[in-house]
Amino acid sequence: MSDQVRIVEVGPRDGLQNEKIPVSVEARVAFIENLVGAGLHTVEVGSFVSPKAIPQMTNSDQVLRAVDHHPDCEFHVLVPNEKGYEAAKAAGAKVIAVFASASEGFSKANINCTVAESIERFTPVVQHARADGIKVRGYVSCVLGCPYDGEVKPAAVAAVAKKLWDLGCYEVSLGDTIGVGTPVKARQLLRAVVADVPIKNLGMHFHDTYGQALANLYAGLEEGARVIDSAAGGLGGCPYAPGATGNVATEDVVYMLEGMGISTGVDMNKLVVATNDIARVLGKPPVSRVASAINAGRR
Ligand code: HMG
Ligand code: MG
Repeated sequence: MSDQVRIVEVGPRDGLQNEKIPVSVEARVAFIENLVGAGLHTVEVGSFVSPKAIPQMTNSDQVLRAVDHHPDCEFHVLVPNEKGYEAAKAAGAKVIAVFASASEGFSKANINCTVAESIERFTPVVQHARADGIKVRGYVSCVLGCPYDGEVKPAAVAAVAKKLWDLGCYEVSLGDTIGVGTPVKARQLLRAVVADVPIKNLGMHFHDTYGQALANLYAGLEEGARVIDSAAGGLGGCPYAPGATGNVATEDVVYMLEGMGISTGVDMNKLVVATNDIARVLGKPPVSRVASAINAGRR
């Protein structure tokens, strides 16, 4: 496994959207600048969603504008509907992400519509974005289990992934939103979805609630997947996914990949500084095992 892996750093969005302490625009921008400085050049920086649903992501337009000066970086923002799209476009977004669910229960809780209705909502968003030269990433949530509906079948995930792909998303990220997956299931999931979306266009977005995310990623890498979503320090969660914890930590992913001989271009020491700085803002230590080990001087 020597080819390249692309890391999509989701800490400033997924990582902060569920935090109790509101994080200022300045601190969010400083976090992103630190991540970019550490070599993470694809970063999800905010969401254009209802401020009543996710108050933590208000002023994402200011965040996006403040970091827009990096020509070599790709900054993503979440968009749930046309209102969000117009706001993201006005703020200069070049890449947006629409987010659907493989399960009805989570779709209703998260974006207040059925899965079919969400695809109808995304259709004009994707059409307008493509006409405006804005790239669209697609998410499918609850790919390995749903907090409301329980088990989710790979065929249900494949059906939604295909819809997003057919709409024109350049990549579909598969979200284990509540982090319940295990490696064999992750492998079976990818095998089901590649019938409809090429493996090189699939992202793995695994939360780490049950400590399986790295193992699940490894199974996905063996299947040929090469896009990994992760969050610095293992931050993350969704208010509509009760009980779920953070994303797989970027430090842990980088350590594993480098250990496999896969170069990430990420400077681990700078990444840990980024993690420690935001951890101070949040008032809690990072959950990343690698960051903790480095902080404890166990290099
Ligand atoms: P709704 O209540 O059905 O929407 O919410 P609505 O169209 O009836 O509008 C209600 C109010 O929201 C109105 O304001 C709208 O103007 C406003 P009011 O008249 O009450 O003052 N509104 C907006 N404001 C700003 N930006 C917008 C927007 N749209 C409507 N874009 C809606 C539907 C989708 C808007 C809402 O449910 C929502 O914003 N949900 C977002 C939830 C969210 O962000 N969840 C976290 C991200 S998903 C995730 O974390 C999973 C992921 O990481 C992958 C994984 O782990 O699996 C991606
Ligand atoms: Mg997530």
